[in-house]
Amino acid sequence: MIFRQLFDPTSSTYTYLIASRRGGEALIIDPVLERVDRYVKLMEELDVRLIKAIDTHIHADHITGLGELRNRTKCITVMGERSSADVVSMRVGDGERVDIEGVSLESIYTPGHTDDSYSFVMGDRVFTGDTLLIRGTGRTDFQNGDPVQQYDSIFNRLLKLPEETLVYPAHDYKGDTVSTIGEEKAFNPRLQVESLQQYVDVMNSLNLPNPRMMDVAVPANIRMGLDQNTPDGAAWTLGTDAVMKAIDAGDAVLVDLRETSERDKQGEIPGSMHTPYPNVAEHVAPGGMLAQLANATGKRLIFYCAYGERSAMAAEAARSAGLMGARHLKGGIRAWKEAGGAVTSPTAPKTARRPWPCRSSATRRSAPSPPRP
Ligand SMILES: [Fe+2]
Repeated sequence: MIFRQLFDPTSSTYTYLIASRRGGEALIIDPVLERVDRYVKLMEELDVRLIKAIDTHIHADHITGLGELRNRTKCITVMGERSSADVVSMRVGDGERVDIEGVSLESIYTPGHTDDSYSFVMGDRVFTGDTLLIRGTGRTDFQNGDPVQQYDSIFNRLLKLPEETLVYPAHDYKGDTVSTIGEEKAFNPRLQVESLQQYVDVMNSLNLPNPRMMDVAVPANIRMGLDQNTPDGAAWTLGTDAVMKAIDAGDAVLVDLRETSERDKQGEIPGSMHTPYPNVAEHVAPGGMLAQLANATGKRLIFYCAYGERSAMAAEAARSAGLMGARHLKGGIRAWKEAGGAVTSPTAPKTARRPWPCRSSATRRSAPSPPRP
């Protein structure tokens, strides 16, 4: 297992690079724009290929590296489904998984610091974003933060993980790198409260100044979608009407780039082929399966995904490989459904919230000590 905790000293942000092996797939959590050169070089040195870049929430203190990493590595950008980011490639809900080769994260919706905060559990560790910090908790006074929600997220979700679970936060300002759930339960001063109201009072009395970068970072982090309005991009983009006409005319092969879990949850356009996005480059290369199919049938490939970002990159890759007829569906299956396009019935059972124990046992704290900001 490759596990690297990288640090941005300007914003005191921790970024995590994870891969199961050299030569394999990688994912990165909470990358910082100014450090992207460093991440890319490290991934080259470790011989890993970035497949997914995840933000735990919309950050206010730095500009995310998600967009730049996507532009440079063609990776899939991932956030929680409550994110207000304009476009990410993939959104995950509570209890859903983010997978790459040999690595699987489970998302936990942990609002409170912001209303789009998610934590991610990976085996013996949890990435807590700014929800639970080492001996602290994330502020709750902007971006729809809510101390009531944060109390629930921490006491009824995160602290219900096994005590030995390693806690890896998105920030630390004192130089600590890792903690455990048990340690935070016992020693985190913000958590030594006797009631929800006491926690809310603590959080509402912090009176912290806004982050220096906030006015720049939040708008930038919300608008990070791939720019598809370039002249080239527009040329290989089709709206839902054009795709419906191509299907009716029988001259299109629809290629679904989403993962099986997304197809199960959202349904698919009837008659689609399934080629997950990470494999598409090899399939559109000369001699690849999709290249052979397009050449043999004379049909044009039309890629689609969840929101149109993976498909735009796939169409560009196909055209770069010589498949000049390749197109993609703007806005993905979301736009398709909004336009009334046919989809198969979703098959996935509804994801259930982890069966955490009930709240009452979590809210009883022993030996309270005065909370500190
Ligand atoms: Fe934050």
